[in-house]
Amino acid sequence: MDKLQVVGGKRLEGEIVISGAKNAALPILCAGLLTSGDLELSNVPRLHDVKTILKLLAQTGLKVTQDDEKVTLNGSAITTLEAPYELVKTMRASILVLGPLLARFGEAKVSLPGGCAIGSRPVDQHIKGLQALGADITIEGGYIHARCKKLKGARIRTDMITVTGTENLLMAATLADGETILENAAREPEVTDLANLLVAMGARIEGIGTDRLVIQGVAELHGARHAVISDRIEAATFLCAVAATGGDILLRNTRTDYFDVALDKLREIGLVMTMGPESIRAQMGGRPKPVSFRTTEYPGFPTDMQAQFMAVDTIASGSSRITETIFENRFMHVQEMNRLGASIQTEGNTAHVKGVDRLVGAPVMATDLRASASLVIAAMAAQGTTIIDRIYHLDRGYDRMEVKLSAVGADIVRIK
Ligand code: EPU
Repeated sequence: MDKLQVVGGKRLEGEIVISGAKNAALPILCAGLLTSGDLELSNVPRLHDVKTILKLLAQTGLKVTQDDEKVTLNGSAITTLEAPYELVKTMRASILVLGPLLARFGEAKVSLPGGCAIGSRPVDQHIKGLQALGADITIEGGYIHARCKKLKGARIRTDMITVTGTENLLMAATLADGETILENAAREPEVTDLANLLVAMGARIEGIGTDRLVIQGVAELHGARHAVISDRIEAATFLCAVAATGGDILLRNTRTDYFDVALDKLREIGLVMTMGPESIRAQMGGRPKPVSFRTTEYPGFPTDMQAQFMAVDTIASGSSRITETIFENRFMHVQEMNRLGASIQTEGNTAHVKGVDRLVGAPVMATDLRASASLVIAAMAAQGTTIIDRIYHLDRGYDRMEVKLSAVGADIVRIK
């Protein structure tokens, strides 16, 4: 199993090119199942999760042609309407094939995803929504088996805001008979990117970017070309890294219009940012100031940035309070940061962080994707050497993070 060795205390300086967004690419690739036409996608990030979804899509019969960050999909010869346990268990986003397969072929069998490191993460809202669209759904042998003659438009209000739930129902509704109204829909930029692609494929969707999506079903969708939006979480992760280590970096291929409150919090920390049309220059001198926050759905503070901000807070010039409201178990990085000398105490879903003068390198273990990124940041800010074990989590969602960081001056190497 690969590990990362990080020697802390290096200032970051230089340019980093941001990759395409993982959480936009995954649903967008699944949209390839909705049409027999060619879907030509660019800015697809090179990630393990993308490999997994492409493997899953290929085994349905979807033709996949890949040339680095360009992927072409053709769904004219789909033969298998099933997502097996072996693939779904490694990546929950596999559930995103359920809506498209059911809508286009009238049947889908997808393994029920289990719990995961950050919480129990049920998919009941996906199921309830598809039932509202007329699907007959049974759970047999650990599989969700959905069948329908033709989905019929309906008004659906999910009990909570769910990102992949919204995406699954949105994709299904594009091919349903009549009008579907999705209320309480997720507004994340990744949902918007999927909706924009679906419109390019011939879908009729109103209210894109709002919490009320109105979809008029069409008989079929056609091929399209689309560039996946850049990854705001990857960009914000690098901004946290420079906030923790100090330095001057330029992020390229990043948009600035879809950021959430995370950017305001970075300013509060003391990071000076200059926005270009597709770039962010970030400069940091001195010790970070503490920031308190509460994770919420977009455009609130993203749960996917909670751990990375906590890493910065561990060395801030004061105390902070972090509340996680989206997932019930997303503090697994706390113990690992405390091994590096941080002073964090948790009380239910709130972490109290007392900024310390310094962290000191130690062996630590990555527990999930964003926790891994937070440990890289903490390790870069620490004195001495940190070995981070189980970094396969990092490879799932960051495109060669150690390569990008060493190019701007971090001392970080992968140990095979
Ligand atoms: N939930 C339910 N029932 C459902 C669906 C969701 O109870 O049917 C609950 C979840 O358990 C959770 C909350 O609702 O407590 C929100 O979950 P959501 O469905 O929005 O999460 P998701 O769609 O499974 C996506 C991202 C996550 C990100 C969350 C929240 C993708 C592929 N994944 O997950 O990304 O944390 O939204 O923004 O888009 C990551 O990239 O590291 C990651 C975990």
